[in-house]
Amino acid sequence: MLNGKNILIGITGGIAAYKICELIRMFKRNNANVRVVCTPNALNFVTKLTLQNLSQNEVGVEEFNIEQFKPEHISYADEADIMIIAPATANTIGKIANGICDNLLTSIACAFTKPMIIAPAMNCGMWDNQFVQENLEKLSSAGYYVLEPDEGFLACGYNGKGRLCELQKIFDKTVNILNGEKFLSGKKIVITAGGTIEEIDSVRYISNYSSGKMGIALADEAYKAGAEVILISTVNAEKPYGVIKVKSAEDMKFAVENEYDTADCIIMAAAVADYRAKNIANHKMKKADNVENITVELVKNPDILQSLCKRKNSVLCGSAVSDTVKEKAPVIVGFCAESENLIENAKVKIAKKGCDYLIANDISRKDIGFSSDYNEVSILRKDGAIKHLDRMSKNDIAKSILKEIYG
Ligand code: PMT
Repeated sequence: MLNGKNILIGITGGIAAYKICELIRMFKRNNANVRVVCTPNALNFVTKLTLQNLSQNEVGVEEFNIEQFKPEHISYADEADIMIIAPATANTIGKIANGICDNLLTSIACAFTKPMIIAPAMNCGMWDNQFVQENLEKLSSAGYYVLEPDEGFLACGYNGKGRLCELQKIFDKTVNILNGEKFLSGKKIVITAGGTIEEIDSVRYISNYSSGKMGIALADEAYKAGAEVILISTVNAEKPYGVIKVKSAEDMKFAVENEYDTADCIIMAAAVADYRAKNIANHKMKKADNVENITVELVKNPDILQSLCKRKNSVLCGSAVSDTVKEKAPVIVGFCAESENLIENAKVKIAKKGCDYLIANDISRKDIGFSSDYNEVSILRKDGAIKHLDRMSKNDIAKSILKEIYG
């Protein structure tokens, strides 16, 4: 992932300095060239020898090196593709935000013109300090990537915000920046897939021909485009992203609603059964010689899509809704499976369900739709616009749908 990339890590004097040893290993395992510079105070928490061994490079601390003809801080800044300051103390953040260069690390930071990640870690009182916050604000608005600390138990004995964020977050951000930010970076997308399974007894069920391919294609493409993905699926899927296996419409509703508050977008590609058996026998129902017909009474399943839209629209229609609340509400996307009058029925469905987008596909065709590797769809937007996508692989359809929503 990071073949040949030059990563410069600046470590300042905080207890979280010891964690950076593991971060160096993560970068090295991904074939990056890692150089480390430390403030003199950082060496109270971690040794130069450890950092040198892990990075396989000399560690810079002294600003004035008589052996070098080019000023040391300029050589470091020229060579690196990205600089990460972690942990970044309130002291170093203050210096960088105000152009102070009083050691090798702050001098490099001042001369650095490429992307810089700053991962603060400090006591929660220091984090809340107005001047620290102003300095961070100044850095963020100047284009520095500030990765906020986590909340939790701090080494100083307090509980609060100030723990260095997860190393994986620093690693992922670095990869994203160096490989070009992807268009769904920072988005959380929840996608449903497959046909729900509605039990009749312990061995029989009602379901449909959905293979889950459309939903999984959407999840794969969203993940490739940098999103955090949660796939809620009735079919098994081994994936590098989150997969929640469900069975019935009711299970699916519970799982989707659980993700609602943190989702930026919810896509309902699953074929949810409209009805389920009113009573589920907990044993295998027996065939009787004298019984020619049996009746299974069905009751209506909850409409997951419709209730998601209701939840969203009721919040947005509230009297004093702030812009932040509006921005936080997830984009809701439904699918529409029809075997006749596709567009007319889809228009009725988008109005009835109240979703932002509805993806209409014709399930009467054998060359697309259920179980096929291909699809052909029309994307209806709630403002009435319609875009048609010709037949192509479900992955290409998925890419186009995601681009339509976020492109
Ligand atoms: O899985 P594949 O084999 O790849 O096939 C893909 C697909 C044909 C299943 C997919 O492209 C598709 O059309 N999915 C939606 C199927 C469906 O249930 O359509 P519908 O028109 O009956 O429902 C409209 C929308 O309401 C859908 O987003 C559905 O998920 C949702 N719904 C339906 C019923 C219900 N009780 N709750 C719901 O949330």
